[in-house]
Amino acid sequence: MKITIVGTGYVGLVTGTCFADCGNHVCCLDIDPTKIALLNAGKCTIYEPGLEELILQNSRAGRLTFTTDVNHAARHGEVIFLCVGTPPSPDGSADLSGIEAAAKSIAEHMPDSRIVVIKSTVPVGTGDRIETLMRNHTKHRVELVSNPEFLKEGAAVRDFRMPDRVVIGTECEESAEVVRQLYLPFTPPRTPILMIGRRAAEMSKYAANSYLAMRISFINEIANICERVGVDIDEVKSGMATDARIGPHFLYPGVGYGGSCFPKDVQALAAVSDSVDHDARILKAVHETNEMQKCAMFDHVRSEFGSRLDGKRFAVWGVTFKSRTDDIRESPALTMVDLLLDAGAWVTAYDPQGLENLAVKYAGRIHYARDAYDALAEADALMVLTDWDEFRSPDFDRISAALKRPIVFDGRNLYKTAWMRRHRFTYYSIGRPPVYGERDGMSRAFELEETLS
Ligand SMILES: NC(=O)c1ccc[n+]([C@@H]2O[C@H](COP(=O)([O-])OP(=O)(O)OC[C@H]3O[C@@H](n4cnc5c(N)ncnc54)[C@H](O)[C@@H]3O)[C@@H](O)[C@H]2O)c1
Repeated sequence: MKITIVGTGYVGLVTGTCFADCGNHVCCLDIDPTKIALLNAGKCTIYEPGLEELILQNSRAGRLTFTTDVNHAARHGEVIFLCVGTPPSPDGSADLSGIEAAAKSIAEHMPDSRIVVIKSTVPVGTGDRIETLMRNHTKHRVELVSNPEFLKEGAAVRDFRMPDRVVIGTECEESAEVVRQLYLPFTPPRTPILMIGRRAAEMSKYAANSYLAMRISFINEIANICERVGVDIDEVKSGMATDARIGPHFLYPGVGYGGSCFPKDVQALAAVSDSVDHDARILKAVHETNEMQKCAMFDHVRSEFGSRLDGKRFAVWGVTFKSRTDDIRESPALTMVDLLLDAGAWVTAYDPQGLENLAVKYAGRIHYARDAYDALAEADALMVLTDWDEFRSPDFDRISAALKRPIVFDGRNLYKTAWMRRHRFTYYSIGRPPVYGERDGMSRAFELEETLS
């Protein structure tokens, strides 16, 4: 089938490439000429495992093309996927100006009838409005389908090819069937393809993301209580997550959720709720808890160094909002870097993929290290803010030798407290009792205790 993708970001690029990879002819449109030039030169514009190879293979096979020409793109696809961004407005509601502009320009250039699929995350009722808008700008038939995307950055290709489910929202059976056919290569018999109402499909995406964000804020809240009552969140979590009704997913205590989805989607759903005179208190609490959580580790920094950090140097490992992506949008690491800079500290950051994007935001205000250990030179402390695999088993002796004093703030609970105690670190993590290194002889006492037990 001939498919057009409008918006060649994280979602559009993965969607277009995966559809091309199973034999469709896909044309990807974007308004950003730099992005399109890079893609046409065979360069992947984002870091996403496995994506670059697929782009190259399918471009070479002639099934995947990139353009800024809306006339060409609107003519190409029998099915047109809208994958443009829906960022937050200042009041938290979703800014739909991008998707409206994209829909209008496609409508104006459609040579005949089209199925238009909204893959962007949009508030309930947006499909109705976009369908009306498009019908007002073309004399051809437009059928509008909602098909929310559930992929995770860092595992986007895998998630797209092996979805837990596909949601197709429309009241038009004919269009639903066309979209269902497109997903058959990715949905073995037991993968549900849910054919539901368009408005229900739109709501299901916000409900799913808000629920996942809620689990993260919930475990962070429990972690904060644990810290104050001297209990280890890891033990509490194991007691919780083994309950089959609860399960282990999205119960990782840390510096809070970030990225381009959870923060904006929780707020956008709360705004929808406000607009229909319902005060969605859970959603607001999820957001507020997360905002506080992004700063929680800084309390430990203050307790260690005092409130002014002039002249102190911090090595920051990890700036992306999660591992296996280059995406720093709404990353909790940025909040921490801002807090450090505001308090007068120097920051040297290292991230396996995120430094280019970071440099666009901070330019010369921070330093950028070539590798994790370079970042430690002359630093007063190490702060770990993203759960990249390469940070999980570092050379602790090397860290200890490079830092002025062996102090680690771990915002992802990557290390065992017993291990850090044994290596005489002062170690702060989330929801676990701090380890005070050599300061109070705790490590020696612990070693003794361990030998005896
Ligand atoms: N990133 C994710 O993990 C993820 C997952 C599921 C759903 N979503 C949703 O998918 C949507 C897209 O997210 P993203 O992260 O891919 O966004 P993105 O910002 O990475 O990409 C959006 C792209 O759309 C382009 N664009 C904007 N207006 C355009 C127009 N009129 N015509 C053509 N191109 C245009 C931009 O230049 C950009 O390249 C959002 O609604 C998001 O909430 C994102």
